[in-house]
Amino acid sequence: MIDSFQHVGSLDELATMAAICERCDLCETRTNVVFASGAHDADVMVVGEGPGQQEDEQGIPFVGRSGQLLISLLAEVGFERDDVYIANVVKCRPPRNRDPRQDEIDACKPYLRRQIELVDPTVVVTLGNFSSKLLLGTTTGITRLRGQAYEWWGRHLVPTFHPAAALRGGQRVKDDIRHDVGLVRALVDGRIQADSEPEAQTLRSPDTATDEQLGLFGTSQP
Ligand code: URA
Repeated sequence: MIDSFQHVGSLDELATMAAICERCDLCETRTNVVFASGAHDADVMVVGEGPGQQEDEQGIPFVGRSGQLLISLLAEVGFERDDVYIANVVKCRPPRNRDPRQDEIDACKPYLRRQIELVDPTVVVTLGNFSSKLLLGTTTGITRLRGQAYEWWGRHLVPTFHPAAALRGGQRVKDDIRHDVGLVRALVDGRIQADSEPEAQTLRSPDTATDEQLGLFGTSQP
């Protein structure tokens, strides 16, 4: 199986390829491939876990309840839905919203990698454990990871809770996401640097897995 889409020159071309993708079993149960939404040159890219039922039906990420919460929290700091590029770790809905399996994540990884390269955002926001652990190459959970910005492949990465956790966990989780989205705003505005503010410290080698990071992005990642 091809492990790099480095040769694919545009997001439209990549989306066309994803629309007929059969790299994992999720292609058998999906209604639509949920590739992404938003500006192709966005400063901020949000990475969720995988489509739910409504996303699968509409082919658009984060249109269900957790999506509405995400969009309202982003709007509080002045990001409109279409200003932000929104994608997921897996592009097809896992049946009954189960967690994506490692083989599915691995099969879908080249799409996400190329999306990040082509959008070239200043800040990547990872929502929840799957995207945060995958991109930071760590086994550390989101509760410990969140609350700060990381320097990451020449950009900033801000991990935060998945909005579905806020729907379950209430005000405190929502306030934590609000704090983290505030960091994103400050990074985009150039008011803080990932490595210079006490609130936003750098984690150059999160726990372990530099190799995993390299596995995801290869050595040519800017
Ligand atoms: N949850 C996700 O992680 N992604 C979506 O697109 C919708 C819900």
